Amino acid sequence: MPAAVETAVRERGRAITAQAFGLLSTNLVQALAAGGITNALPYCSEKAYPLTALVAATNDVTIRRVTHRPRNPTNAATGIEWDLLRKYQLALGRGETLAPTVRAGTNGQVTFYSPIVITNPLCLQCHGVPGTDLAPSTTALLRQLYPQDEATGFRLGDLRGLWRVDFARLP
Ligand code: HEC
Repeated sequence: MPAAVETAVRERGRAITAQAFGLLSTNLVQALAAGGITNALPYCSEKAYPLTALVAATNDVTIRRVTHRPRNPTNAATGIEWDLLRKYQLALGRGETLAPTVRAGTNGQVTFYSPIVITNPLCLQCHGVPGTDLAPSTTALLRQLYPQDEATGFRLGDLRGLWRVDFARLP
């Protein structure tokens, strides 16, 4: 892939994931303020997709959040996503700063992957350690909404997953 293309993908990928993350965070904080965790939890599951889909449509890309420890099974990492998560996990363990990855796919498609590390204590209210970070009512609600939930037990600084942005047309 030409260096200029890779640089453009990197810049646009960063901007797009920042936009999606900002939109999700703002809405999450509002939902929490309006009705606490019991309001925000179902909200997260219903609004996360339309919000990221909106950012994807305005930027002419597809956006996904994938993870090695999914709450929603549809967000489970596969193939290269797993390899990258393992690579990032090892780098984190060595105390390195994580940078996004750009890979060329088939049909001239290019994909931007950006690690999601938990840096905000807010996240722990729903992804932290049950019994300490998670209120018993949150644990109960999670069990009901996501019987196969693997997305608790995280601590600050942990790798939570990846943003994946697919560019069908090169920027
Ligand atoms: C109010 C509870 C709540 C808070 C706070 C919260 N999340 Fe989540 N998170 C959820 C729910 C519910 C899902 C599942 C959404 C779905 O069904 O797709 C989820 C899914 C995710 C996913 C997609 C992968 C998966 O496991 O399905 C990532 C990544 C993620 N959250 C990261 C974060 C980060 C980072 C923060 C802090 C900025 C955060 N979350 C804060 C409830 C929360």
